[in-house]
Amino acid sequence: MEQAEFNLRRREYRDAVETFLSGLFTEKTHYSDLYDSMRYSLLAGGKRLRPMLALEFARLGGLGENWADALPAACALELVHTYSLIHDDLPCMDDDDLRRGKPTNHKVYGETMAVLAGDALQPAAFELILTAPKLDAARRADCALVLAQASGQHGMVAGQVLDTLHNPQTAQELTEVHNLKTGAMIRAACLMGCAASGSGKKLWEAAENYAGQIGLAFQIRDDMLDVIGNEETFGKPIGSDQEEGKSTFVDVLGLEGCANTISVCTSRARSAVEQVPGHEFLWYLADQLAQRDY
Ligand code: IPE
Ligand code: IPE
Ligand code: MG
Ligand code: MG
Ligand code: MG
Repeated sequence: MEQAEFNLRRREYRDAVETFLSGLFTEKTHYSDLYDSMRYSLLAGGKRLRPMLALEFARLGGLGENWADALPAACALELVHTYSLIHDDLPCMDDDDLRRGKPTNHKVYGETMAVLAGDALQPAAFELILTAPKLDAARRADCALVLAQASGQHGMVAGQVLDTLHNPQTAQELTEVHNLKTGAMIRAACLMGCAASGSGKKLWEAAENYAGQIGLAFQIRDDMLDVIGNEETFGKPIGSDQEEGKSTFVDVLGLEGCANTISVCTSRARSAVEQVPGHEFLWYLADQLAQRDY
């Protein structure tokens, strides 16, 4: 695979995800201010990393050129992810006013609506999975379980609790936080592709190992960009972690140490999938994420 082919596939996934998401929550009712608020954050851009991972693993897991059969499940990840961002930005959490290059949800719609828009995005995600037209009942159930286990009390929410309320300091504590608050949903994305395609056990294992490595690298890079990023490119405020008094990997390892850790994780991620036929897209993606500035 050449870089151009990687870019093309990435764009194909992205366009399919944008089109799917833009068809959601369009009804007009007397409470469609709720839908406006949900759509505001959902359609504000974003890298769409989690759906992309799900679609690629669905392709590898057996859907092949019919990867779009997995779109509802892949987009369900983006609904949960977007809810987590809306809540993460609230004054009671990170208190940020810029997200995806735009004012945060609560700045535009107010705190009450931001909480409720996040609340509504969660069941809507499960509804998408459980009504996915091209997935049979067993695959729908597998996808729903993957998302439920990743996003709640054993996954993302647990990570947010540790991050915002437990003051993690050491590399070990921060690794746990990163694995939960960010890694769990990235792992879910990869496993969702396996579940939606009914793939064999070998791919599940490879997906799990790949996701563990890129998930940690992804959040360490996020911590770095909070220090060295450019607000316009990153689409988020720079210095938010320090302002909130948070310790991050940058405090523990320094910028160079972070870069080294990311590079170790990235090469482990590459090894995790090297036996998977057609793994080149995943290699390019891991490399690109390691160097991202947005
Ligand atoms: C932001 O996730 C929150 C973290 C887990 C670091 P992304 O960096 O994937 O945000 P978007 O979806 O591209 O806006
Ligand atoms: C939050 O991590 C991860 C979530 C579960 C939303 P951060 O608080 O570092 O994410 P950003 O930097 O605000 O996107
Ligand atoms: Mg946070
Ligand atoms: Mg935050
Ligand atoms: Mg951050």
